[in-house]
Amino acid sequence: MADVLVYKEFIPWAKPSYWGKEKEYALEAISSSWISGGPFVDRLEKDIARYYGCGRALTSSNGTAALHMAFLSLGLGPGDEIIVPGFGFMAAANVGSLMGIKPVFAEVDPDTWCMRAEDVEPCVTERTKAIVPIHNYGNVCPMDTIMAFASRKGIAVVEDAAESFASRYDGKLSGTFGTIGTFSFHATKTITTGEGGMAITDRQDLGDLMALYRSHGLLRKRHYWHEITGHNFRLTNMQAALGCAQMERLEEIIRERKRIHLAYAGHLGSFDGVSMQVFTPKVDPVLWATAVKIDSVAYPQGRDIVLQQMLAANIETRPGFYTAFGMKHLHQSGRLPVCEALSGQIISLPTFPTLSDEQIDFICTKLKGLRR
Ligand SMILES: Cc1ncc(COP(=O)(O)O)c(C=O)c1O
Repeated sequence: MADVLVYKEFIPWAKPSYWGKEKEYALEAISSSWISGGPFVDRLEKDIARYYGCGRALTSSNGTAALHMAFLSLGLGPGDEIIVPGFGFMAAANVGSLMGIKPVFAEVDPDTWCMRAEDVEPCVTERTKAIVPIHNYGNVCPMDTIMAFASRKGIAVVEDAAESFASRYDGKLSGTFGTIGTFSFHATKTITTGEGGMAITDRQDLGDLMALYRSHGLLRKRHYWHEITGHNFRLTNMQAALGCAQMERLEEIIRERKRIHLAYAGHLGSFDGVSMQVFTPKVDPVLWATAVKIDSVAYPQGRDIVLQQMLAANIETRPGFYTAFGMKHLHQSGRLPVCEALSGQIISLPTFPTLSDEQIDFICTKLKGLRR
């Protein structure tokens, strides 16, 4: 019998929320003469440096630019290699490739979907210059063992914390373990500036270099003199205005994201046929997206058909990330069975702060009903 359960209105996969003073601050930025750089940029950097307890926090035009600044400041270039997970958003691998750096893809844990030290180890060569853990969906990689491994080998760590803003590992914020941590403030992310990002570090030298690379290699004190060949990765004051307003309400944003995670876990945590991403006791996650792995016996129609069936019920969902092996036209990667299985089985579900408990009930009822 055809499944007729359709939600009354379209439920998007993500939706930005405004919490308080976003419009007021954006208007203030537009009404001032500060529409490129300006006081909101400085304030956002200070707010985030305070929250993260880090020496330097540098805004950037997006999360990919933050990774680019990080790699440039570490002096990475042609002939070097970085180790990235085979399952995750490909920004670090893509930026690496654009810079002539070879991304080497590592396996991930089948339950947490995150890269571990033991996955990194077989990928290390004499050309490895950085390990780039990605904290997939808001989970956090086991940073204690990754950092211990990296420091034994003398390799830098750039944490791609784009999806794990405010998530913690062992009580410590993700992004603060590595040599550099990077974030994205894209519209779907935990805090957003529309497009935007940030790199944080405790190393003054790297902070200074990233600031130079971000702004044409210019120092403000000497007009048109380029210290180095830089880029333009700057965030605008208008965008930073949104970020400042969001930082004022961060606790509420975190609370709502945790509510959503718990509500999904309540419905799907013990449902036979789907398994949720696993968070070890050390992780206190603030999820960017709630994602589940569907069992191919329970859902013989396959993940991609389930995505379509959800869409037909007015619910937008997304597949897992494609692996580098699956994107042979871009990257070289050996077979990584766990990454490949996750890539084909994961569905990420709508996750945004104003998603109601009633909508979550509906989404889960629908997903359960598609089980054969
Ligand atoms: C893990 C990860 N890294 C990097 C990025 C890139 O961030 P942006 O889109 O802000 O460039 C994203 C998201 O888009 C991401 O999910």
